[in-house]
Amino acid sequence: MAFIDTIKERAKADKKTIVLPESMDKRTYEAAEKILKEGIANLVIIGTPEEIEKYGKGYDISGATIVDPFNDPNKQKYIDKFVELRSKKGVTPEMAKEQMEKDYMYYACLMCKCGDADGAVSGACHSTGNTIRPALQLLKTKPGISSVSGFFLMEVPDCEFGENGLFVFADCAVSPDYDSEKLAEVAKLSSDSFKSFVGKDAKVAMLSFSSYGSAKHDRVTMVADAVKIAKEKYPDITVDGELQLDAALVPEVAALKAPESPVAGKANTLVFPNLEAGNIGYKLVQRLAKAGAYGPVLQGLSMPVNDLSRGCFADDIVGVVAMTAVQAQNA
Ligand code: ACO
Repeated sequence: MAFIDTIKERAKADKKTIVLPESMDKRTYEAAEKILKEGIANLVIIGTPEEIEKYGKGYDISGATIVDPFNDPNKQKYIDKFVELRSKKGVTPEMAKEQMEKDYMYYACLMCKCGDADGAVSGACHSTGNTIRPALQLLKTKPGISSVSGFFLMEVPDCEFGENGLFVFADCAVSPDYDSEKLAEVAKLSSDSFKSFVGKDAKVAMLSFSSYGSAKHDRVTMVADAVKIAKEKYPDITVDGELQLDAALVPEVAALKAPESPVAGKANTLVFPNLEAGNIGYKLVQRLAKAGAYGPVLQGLSMPVNDLSRGCFADDIVGVVAMTAVQAQNA
């Protein structure tokens, strides 16, 4: 069974409620029809009657709950929660109301925060920054986690590496700036994500342009220090580095460059040293190896909220909703 089909089956086994705030995009309705028909999740669509009529015409979304952000009996509760969370940042009730009406992702996150939904998916017609900023501001990180990162579950066809071609790649989506502490945390979160989605133990490679000190540079030291921190702070995970990509994946290269490593030659979870490498790396594998790239899935948030690529198809939305529902089951 393909990876995403196993995730859909898991989502169906314990249905969660996921909010879709992009009522101004036809793909939302096409995906919603499929999700409801297959029984993957309960859905809330945030939109005005005009938006639903204009963009949703012809799709059967009768099983979804529609929330009109201008005419919702729960709206005051969400405004109050917004102000409670953000008054220190200067947010007044008027500002909260205006923001929720202007940007439905804020509405979606407040529904999650108030316990009226288990997760949210957006990003088909909003940038990654605009999708995740409301979640960072309102939902915040899980206790003990300092930074949210974004991973892709990569499914590489005909691939003997990783877990039969399945990998977690991170951070591919969120934080432009990393230091050793933050990178160590990405290792821990990515290890947990791999275990949760693939069901096998993660072997986390901390990638660099150097293997075990073969090159000397501040950026190599940053990754090597992250490995030290990760090993000390998270003794439950299998992590090693710094490693070049070939040493991380290919047993013959690992035997030459890092023969004692518990990870080299068998890595299934790749932590990139910065966002440029992670974002370019996943797109290279997606395009050149024709890999499935599911994500970016956010890790470290207190509740599951996930982003979509603006080039996504309705089926991609279905897949990300299923992954969000599985994260909600594990929350
Ligand atoms: N983890 C947790 N909280 C965070 C993080 C993080 N990684 N980054 C920012 N925050 C918090 C801040 O502390 C702040 O909280 P506060 O308002 O309570 O003080 C809040 O989020 C907003 O932070 P800012 O720095 O003011 O917001 P910014 O506008 O810089 O947005 C964002 C942060 C959206 C993550 C930004 O760094 C960004 O745009 N990242 C790149 C996203 C991107 O373009 N990715 C590549 C494309 S994805 C793809 O190709 C699929």
